[in-house]
Amino acid sequence: MALVRRTEGPVHVDKMTVPRIRGMRRSGKRIVMITAYDATFARLVDLAGVDIVLVGDSLGNVIQGHETTLPVTLEDVIYHTRAVSRGLQRPLLIADMPFMTYQVSADEAVRNAGRLIQEGRAEGVKLEGGRRVTDIVLRLVQAGIPVMGHLGLTPQSFHEFGGYKIQGREQEAANALLEDALALEAAGAFSMVLEGVPIPLAERISQAVNIPTIGIGAGPHCGGQVLVIHDLLGLDERFKPRFVKRYAELSSVVQQAVAQFGTEVRAGSFPGNEHGFE
Ligand code: KIV
Repeated sequence: MALVRRTEGPVHVDKMTVPRIRGMRRSGKRIVMITAYDATFARLVDLAGVDIVLVGDSLGNVIQGHETTLPVTLEDVIYHTRAVSRGLQRPLLIADMPFMTYQVSADEAVRNAGRLIQEGRAEGVKLEGGRRVTDIVLRLVQAGIPVMGHLGLTPQSFHEFGGYKIQGREQEAANALLEDALALEAAGAFSMVLEGVPIPLAERISQAVNIPTIGIGAGPHCGGQVLVIHDLLGLDERFKPRFVKRYAELSSVVQQAVAQFGTEVRAGSFPGNEHGFE
């Protein structure tokens, strides 16, 4: 196994890499991917043993409070990716390419992806779309930048879709998504997210391509699964879509802890002498 030294961190002998992720498809091991946006959560998800950490443009929703991912900028993703990189040792670090950072031209896409690698310390990038972005995927791969594709309910197409809607329900749309998946693989993508597509279609695509598919709202037949960490932890009690499983209810834990702090401050019982200095 390769010995890897991050310039800002210690050696990790079990580092996840792009070839290892590809290999998981061949050996039938399911890939665990999760989002993170800061060094604290990066360290925790690393300790929990995830394979890939994605600095998703979902940061527009869960960090910045926007309705969509469309306002997220390249600078935002670089900032958060750099923070995450300081907390990570083992997982592969992927950064999302925000809306309009790869659509204008392949040259611009290479420059912007390069910044995510150089300044953000990402080890690969993710971008949305199928055949309409394969020329860009090709250019990035030629530049030595690993690319993760993203098909189905691609949030950057919010206006085109008329909202967040499951994609590929009709036969024609399903066939088009399969063509997109094959085109992404042919262009050199090392894996792809399938988001918000019917279970049978995700299974069909996962069997048709030889790179790992990573599902979110796409059923159990993908090569791995991804969730937004805020959703998995139940940090927003109002957000309960069908595709999310909450593994904790941190919204109430946080509220109770902060309310208890408030109660003790008002009562004069915090801080005690043990929290102060002589
Ligand atoms: O932005 C994001 O977090 C994503 C994942 C949901 C796949 O794209």
